[in-house]
Amino acid sequence: MKHRIADIVIFGGTGDLALRKLFPALYEMERTGRFDDATRIFGASRSEHSDDEFRTKLQEAGKKYIPNGEFEAKVWKKFAARIAYVQVSADDEAGFKVLNDKLSDQPDRDRVYYFSTSPSLFADMAFNLKKAGLVTPNSRVVLEKPLGHDLESCREINGQIGDVFKEHQIFRIDHYLGKETVQNLLILRFANAMFEPLWNSAHIDHVQITVGEEVGAEGRWSYYDDAGAMRDMVQNHMLQLLCLVAMEPPYVLDQDAVRDEKVKVLKALKPINDSNIDSATVRGQYRKGAVGGKEVPGYLEEEGANIDSTTETFVAIRAELNNWRWAGVPFYLRTGKRLPKRHSEIVIQFRDVPHQIFPLAKSMTNYQANRLVLRLQPDDGIHLVLNTKNPGPGLVRLRPTALNLSFAEAFGGRSPDAYERLLLDAIDGNNTLFVRRDEQDIAWQWVDAIQEAWHSNHITPKGYTSGTWGPSAAIALIERDGRTWNEEAGF
Ligand code: BG6
Repeated sequence: MKHRIADIVIFGGTGDLALRKLFPALYEMERTGRFDDATRIFGASRSEHSDDEFRTKLQEAGKKYIPNGEFEAKVWKKFAARIAYVQVSADDEAGFKVLNDKLSDQPDRDRVYYFSTSPSLFADMAFNLKKAGLVTPNSRVVLEKPLGHDLESCREINGQIGDVFKEHQIFRIDHYLGKETVQNLLILRFANAMFEPLWNSAHIDHVQITVGEEVGAEGRWSYYDDAGAMRDMVQNHMLQLLCLVAMEPPYVLDQDAVRDEKVKVLKALKPINDSNIDSATVRGQYRKGAVGGKEVPGYLEEEGANIDSTTETFVAIRAELNNWRWAGVPFYLRTGKRLPKRHSEIVIQFRDVPHQIFPLAKSMTNYQANRLVLRLQPDDGIHLVLNTKNPGPGLVRLRPTALNLSFAEAFGGRSPDAYERLLLDAIDGNNTLFVRRDEQDIAWQWVDAIQEAWHSNHITPKGYTSGTWGPSAAIALIERDGRTWNEEAGF
């Protein structure tokens, strides 16, 4: 299917995200024939490059980052022909005039301005786009995270962008919403009758959301040190996942209906503050260790590190929702860098049967009530742990077994990268999978309260050895409730 004809301008066009993710995603659209011939792509950044130099830079990066050997010279040639470069700095009016000269021959065309730069430049860029007459009714702006550092700074940026673009033109990206399994969660819940009747506190014991990464802060140390796991992962990706698990069914799949439901979830989050900060959160910071068989330095020993940093690289939270559906059901969130493997999943742990009449198979160490695991990465898929009969004669004994649906096996081919999906939505003007301003505000309020409580209670991160699942306090956090993290269950 061809998508709308558009002029796409990537600000920060020579930056890491553009080279690693955005241009490879655009290339993939070319490869799969999604662009109209008239669609044009512009890279924009401060440095000086000719169109050809820029294309060469992209091609080198493309060969490195385009996945699975999908780089094809013939496709690249066609793709490169739509690409041009504009030298422009956020505060330089002249550069925006040059951009206007390039775009003004198509004043009615859809325009997608992708701000893949530091958010401190967003306001200037938006203002200069407007001043140069580049913001038309058919223009949209895509904003990369982090949008602010806390509620106040987020409001300030949103206010400045809001002076130039209307809310329906603003696409705040959270790339987790573009992941196949995340969207599958909506389908699983709202297109299958069998789960929804059980999707509440009467039948669900608890939910776990884990986003584990092998990588450390490495080359991004100074950015990361300002953010920490809380701002980098929880305020956005983790809370978005929580929203999709916990939201009520929207009455229709459109941008406001879906986002209205997510806002209700965020509003229902029980505050974490001085009164419960100790029991509801764990902060960690990685120390040296080994990940994937490779020795890695600790966070404070990374290049460029400030050895006094108290930024967390791991966080575990016991969250609760104050609403009818979820009252009393803990949502355990956990994310960290330098964990044993790249592994992200959502676990829905159902309650046990009211009365168990079967003994457990001798070979099994743990009994397991039904558990639904949505694996985000790697190997995205759905696993449903059921109790079955242990094979063989003799006493009837239980053996928990997983029913596995691997998306790669079921559908073949590779799973598209999240940016492919989201860029196409931005081109088509569909912002259902983007974050609305009020969602962001409420998420920041909740996160700010935790940060404040950490600060006022002098809670500094506990060290954990790289290659482990975080500080032992994170295990204690869930074990205090008589539960365990999913990896212990072995499914
Ligand atoms: C980004 C964070 O938003 O998400 C990074 O800034 C993190 O720190 C990344 O590594 C994780 O994304 P993914 O898709 O690799 O899980």
